[in-house]
Amino acid sequence: MAHLLDLDPDQLLSTTRAVRFRLDLERPVPMNLIEECIAVAQQAPTGSNMQSWHFVVVTDADKRKAVGDVYRRAFEVYKGLPIYAGAVQTGDAARDAQQGRVASSADYLGEHMGDAPVLVIPCVNGRVGGDNVGMAAASMMGGIIPAAWSFMLAARARGLGTCLTTLHLMFEQEVAEILDIPFNEVSQALLTPVAYTKGTDFKPASRPDPQSIMHIDGW
Ligand SMILES: Cc1cc2nc3c(=O)[nH]c(=O)nc-3n(C[C@H](O)[C@H](O)[C@H](O)COP(=O)(O)O)c2cc1C
Repeated sequence: MAHLLDLDPDQLLSTTRAVRFRLDLERPVPMNLIEECIAVAQQAPTGSNMQSWHFVVVTDADKRKAVGDVYRRAFEVYKGLPIYAGAVQTGDAARDAQQGRVASSADYLGEHMGDAPVLVIPCVNGRVGGDNVGMAAASMMGGIIPAAWSFMLAARARGLGTCLTTLHLMFEQEVAEILDIPFNEVSQALLTPVAYTKGTDFKPASRPDPQSIMHIDGW
């Protein structure tokens, strides 16, 4: 069992950041740590206890590069969209500065995704399409995203950094082909780099007062 950082539950939950600049791209990550994180992830909830999850773990340099190239291409598309972190203007100076930092950090990952020592793609059985939306989509992705987040929390506890990304899903089928994931039967939920972090001290991010998003007894 790996040595765990001394973080209480609230500290773990509030300091598991989207790590990009501080990924140590040079240091190898032992496979037993990835396996420990997956074991933690398997304790997450799933609808009807289906546990229809898979974690595709990519360490092969050529495959990481191929997935990284797909991610870079998707990132270029994203940069032209109004939802690009750097394009979002809220009028609040502190919030806009935070968006600027997210954008430059995201740009860096756009270039370096394939350089991370490990890439992990949490997947779930099934594919939502046609009329099969709404509850089906929420239930299917709800069967993997809590587990993926548990994986990321377990990684943080072990000194590893992650960053939840979804942009490569623009070209999901290409990544399925690179990694032999059966595209018609299995959906990829996200892609995260996994690497040791440069330093282990991360801070909670600035967020608005929780009352601004609370709706007690109705909207
Ligand atoms: C659904 C979802 C999709 C995301 N997709 C990407 C992505 O494709 N690329 C990326 O760099 N970050 C992505 N992120 C990470 C967010 O940018 C990050 O969580 C946000 O900026 C807050 O950063 P923080 O957790 O460090 O405060 C995604 C996060 C979520 C929840």
